Amino acid sequence: MGKMDGRVVLVSGGARGQGAEHARLLVAEGARVVLGDLLDEEGRAVAEELGEHARFCHLDVRLPQEWARAVETAREAFGALDGLVNNAGVLSIGYAAEMPVEEFRHTVEVNQVGTFLGMQAVVPSLRAAGGGTIVNVSSTAGLSGDRGLIAYSASKFAVNGMTRVAAMELGPDRIRVNSVCPGVIASDMTEGFRSDMMSALAAQLPLGRFGSADEVSRLVLFLASDDSSYVTGTELVADGGRLAGILPPR
Ligand SMILES: NC(=O)c1ccc[n+]([C@@H]2O[C@H](COP(=O)([O-])OP(=O)(O)OC[C@H]3O[C@@H](n4cnc5c(N)ncnc54)[C@H](O)[C@@H]3O)[C@@H](O)[C@H]2O)c1
Repeated sequence: MGKMDGRVVLVSGGARGQGAEHARLLVAEGARVVLGDLLDEEGRAVAEELGEHARFCHLDVRLPQEWARAVETAREAFGALDGLVNNAGVLSIGYAAEMPVEEFRHTVEVNQVGTFLGMQAVVPSLRAAGGGTIVNVSSTAGLSGDRGLIAYSASKFAVNGMTRVAAMELGPDRIRVNSVCPGVIASDMTEGFRSDMMSALAAQLPLGRFGSADEVSRLVLFLASDDSSYVTGTELVADGGRLAGILPPR
């Protein structure tokens, strides 16, 4: 028996990176998934790999009509929808004093407005299913300040705030809403960082290394499954100890 038997989960940003890994683990635990992403080719390849348990649907999380289509894909293919992993996101790097407003707006539009639209799109299906789970992907940048992440941090703090509000509003419908806050996870998103800066950063962490996607997937599974049946409106952090305290140079 899997922890997600009988469940149907929509995973945004599921074409690669952490989203694809979350989908793999959810399917391994018995779920059927719809992967939504801008990246059609990669998304179709992941869905193909997962076979009859998965479908791909083109999704730009900024657009309500595309969310509606993704929800419809789940209902047509699997008859219902009772879970969402709001994982799609973009990183932007730039100091507050210099960041172009267009870039700030784009980051907020994808990470913050996209997360809001995802929750709004799935609520009717989750209510119809008699309850469900929403896992919003935030970041340690949604709990603590990081130099150079003004827009990203604004959007991820908002994700944590919306998680709490939605949990309060949807609890009576037996819909649990939580967020995960990964620290630095090796993925396409972090590939562009300077390697000397990355090694120095990893060495500072209490666990001395960055995380991997599957280490976040296990938190997502926990929050999406009945293992977390009394958990709602909170954040789970997986950051190798980064936020545990101030790290002096070694
Ligand atoms: N990698 C890290 O260190 C790290 C740390 C903390 C949080 N996160 C968060 O984890 C999530 C997954 O990131 P990742 O590390 O797998 O990076 P990634 O870049 O590999 O994955 C992000 C996915 O989101 C998709 N996406 C981007 N804009 C979209 C849009 N408008 N509509 C639909 N899909 C869109 C991308 O195509 C991609 O498939 C993101 O929300 C990210 O902010 C990442």
